[in-house]
Amino acid sequence: MTQHTSDSTTASNQKVALAFSGGLDTTVCVPLLKEEYGYDEVIGVTVDVGQPKAEFAEAEETAEALGLEHYVVDAKEEFAELCLDSVKANATYQGYPLGTAMARPVIAKAILSVAEEQGCTGIAHGCTGKGNDQLRFEAVWRDSSLEVIAPVRELGLTRKWEKEYADEKGLPVEGGNEGDWSIDTNLWSRSVEGKNLEDPSYIPPEDIYEWTDAPTGETTTIEITFENGYPVAVDGESYEPVELIEYLNEFAGAYGVGRTDMMEDRMLGLKVRENYEHPAATVLLEAHEGLEQLVFTKEERDFKPQVENQWAQKAYEGLVDAPLMKSLDAYIDQSQTKVTGTVTVKLQGGMVRVVSRESDFAVYSESAASFNTETVDGIEQEDATGVAKYHGFQSRLANSVAKQAETEPELPADD
Ligand code: ARG
Repeated sequence: MTQHTSDSTTASNQKVALAFSGGLDTTVCVPLLKEEYGYDEVIGVTVDVGQPKAEFAEAEETAEALGLEHYVVDAKEEFAELCLDSVKANATYQGYPLGTAMARPVIAKAILSVAEEQGCTGIAHGCTGKGNDQLRFEAVWRDSSLEVIAPVRELGLTRKWEKEYADEKGLPVEGGNEGDWSIDTNLWSRSVEGKNLEDPSYIPPEDIYEWTDAPTGETTTIEITFENGYPVAVDGESYEPVELIEYLNEFAGAYGVGRTDMMEDRMLGLKVRENYEHPAATVLLEAHEGLEQLVFTKEERDFKPQVENQWAQKAYEGLVDAPLMKSLDAYIDQSQTKVTGTVTVKLQGGMVRVVSRESDFAVYSESAASFNTETVDGIEQEDATGVAKYHGFQSRLANSVAKQAETEPELPADD
């Protein structure tokens, strides 16, 4: 373990707020914040972004065993709204619907509020120095006057050292999160990584999946209603954001929908193998894009992916408050004023496919597309003749010029 060089080692009567999950990393941080950083008091904060109930029980129990003052903040609604905003942006990062990424700033802000309310002078997380989360947390926290502390990274801790230290100190680290995989779950996605899953050639066993059943031959359809790009109803029934996501996770997960096994380029440049489950995200993203296909002009369809790509990049970086994001959101919101309608998707073999879409804003004219009508808005079929004559004109010209140059005899060399 390397000695850190924090200027707070001399702090007295100082309080620090710790992002607390009750797992090994954050549990060892509790005594270390006192021993190594000189804080007198540590408070733990767990933010609810839709983790399973068992995780809160684990955090509660561990906090109690540690004698840690523990706060739980419910941020599910705020997070669900951000997730549905990401649908308007058709946002994925390299194919990943950004669940962990989008949750981090929400969690970071909630912890910062508690820290400020409780008069803390420091704020800490248990992230390592290899991942994205340290950057996402700190991007929010470094905008405050609190001392930002990352004990695991700053003290160079390893899991092995943490286990020995916990044993030595008699810290409550039994049970929870000691399984084979490192898992991060929230409303939008469940991420599974670590151990042999890190090997890109290792085929994941079926038991890493909890939200999705192995796809079978069974199929079904489901209808999603959007208002201004925002999903508001499923099969004609209205849902609030949290409930809508929960319902779709369960419904589509039963059909094996929403598994991603991918190579992911982290912010620090590391390429890692990741596995995700996100049934609701898959259904909503597919359906939403299907509706945009109907109501957007070609120019809008060509342009929006550029905005979406930037949106997803910033969301991946945890920079949802970047000024660029506000500009992108303004474009996206404007574009969504006609993304109202219903889309039916078919769930089949673990896949989602749009099979029907309807909207009052459809840029679609049956008479224009049909083979059975002669004129459209006073335009006759034969009016296309001129266009057809011009089409490809420049290519034909360029090719013939090139051909001529090839066949022309070379000029005699000057001497
Ligand atoms: N790689 C993802 C991200 O950076 C998710 C990481 C989740 N963490 C975990 N321990 N499973 O957003």
